Amino acid sequence: MVVVAILAAGKGTRMKSNLPKVLHSLGGKSLVERVIESVEPLSPSRRLVIVGYQSQEVKTAMEKIPNLEFVEQTVQLGTGHAIQQLLPHLEGYAGDLLILNGDAPLLRSKTLENLWKIHQENQNSATILSAYLSNPQGYGRIFCNDEGILQKIVEEKDCTHDQRQNNRVNAGIYCFRWPDLAKILPHLQANNAQKEYYLTDAVTQVGKVMAVDVADYQEILGINDRLQLATANDILQRRIKEKWLLAGVTLIDPASITIDETVELQPDVIIEPQTHLRGKTVIQSGSRIGPGSLIENSDLGQNVTVQYSVVTDSVIQAGSRIGPYSHLRGHVEVGAGCRVGNFVELKNTQLGDRTNVAHLSYLGDTTTGTKVNIGAGTITANYDGVNKHRTKIGDRTKTGSNSVLVAPITLGDNVYIAAGSTVTEDVENDALVIARCRQVVKPGWCKKTES
Ligand code: UD1
Ligand code: CA
Repeated sequence: MVVVAILAAGKGTRMKSNLPKVLHSLGGKSLVERVIESVEPLSPSRRLVIVGYQSQEVKTAMEKIPNLEFVEQTVQLGTGHAIQQLLPHLEGYAGDLLILNGDAPLLRSKTLENLWKIHQENQNSATILSAYLSNPQGYGRIFCNDEGILQKIVEEKDCTHDQRQNNRVNAGIYCFRWPDLAKILPHLQANNAQKEYYLTDAVTQVGKVMAVDVADYQEILGINDRLQLATANDILQRRIKEKWLLAGVTLIDPASITIDETVELQPDVIIEPQTHLRGKTVIQSGSRIGPGSLIENSDLGQNVTVQYSVVTDSVIQAGSRIGPYSHLRGHVEVGAGCRVGNFVELKNTQLGDRTNVAHLSYLGDTTTGTKVNIGAGTITANYDGVNKHRTKIGDRTKTGSNSVLVAPITLGDNVYIAAGSTVTEDVENDALVIARCRQVVKPGWCKKTES
């Protein structure tokens, strides 16, 4: 049986941020969310998150994750002090405790499974994850004796010049037999450069301890500053893109593309340069997205194309063409075989199949039928300064260029709106509407007024 504890109480001073460090985002998820996800395959019986700095904010950000227990560390006196807070919560518990730093978001689940397995097989008191880093700066260094038995962990700030040359580091991931650790915890001392209670001191005071090296050192990267956050982002992006490339997705100029881990792509999707896919986005096969597009929390059907456009919280059905320079936001549904073109903004709008809005339009809070043609420059006046109102447009209706549809308004099926009309009243099926001043022509008038 394993209980998991996640250290997330620190301020993260080196981030130089108002946001608690563990809530900083990496590929669409917070650092601490990623850490929590990495332990899922171990089916922990309990998950305790130690919070302190801006604890309310951290708890609120994680309230959607079920069955988390929060333990308050009201003053942050070090990682050892953080784990001391668990004592009243784990009284009588005789199993293992897996401790993870909330700022190590790149761990793979199989690394944790392996750590726990080695811990159990060897009946260790503690098993810690270690790695060799070419640049070990900022990490605690691990020292073992000739038999490979761990002797001590020395924090960077406490290292002598010689000790600092050791590039075998503590990942900050530990498996403890809880009763062994619980005995040591009350006796930790803060005799070190930072005057903190170090969990790393406990490691060398329990019984048998082993250090297990991780194969891919990138997994243990801890985020302490924005530079490390950017490095972690590069690593994560490389992992995500490799996965999709091998799954049959074409990425043209992958370095210029970003893809959140939460995105799903089907084979034969093509992503063009400078395109960013975020949140819960799904793109079906045959679609070609970009160049220069942002798609967020949206579902795109098969064979959709999007060029130089922004699409958020929207659904686009098969075969529709979006852009260049379109903006779809706030629950837009585009039917199959539609065209949404240059400088068109759609907000909370549903287009029926084979409808075109090809140029220079704003449709807000609008529902159209099928095969509608929205002429260039058609605008829905959906906002009266206080409330938003809906526009309904029937099947096969055509609006002329520069029409203004003043909502609330309903246009029937097969209606024809003359160019330049300002339509303020509902229109029945099959009607022609001309709502503009009649043209006045005064022959010879210009010549008469010449001076
Ligand atoms: C820690 C380890 C170091 C290791 C490194 C790996 C100690 C003393 N050092 O150093 O050996 O190489 O992680 O990344 O453990 N936290 C609390 N309460 C506190 C202090 C910290 O919850 O009072 C949390 C932080 O929010 C963070 C984690 O513990 O998630 C690690 O703290 P941090 O200050 O980043 O430790 P490091 O100096 O990186
Ligand atoms: Ca750290």
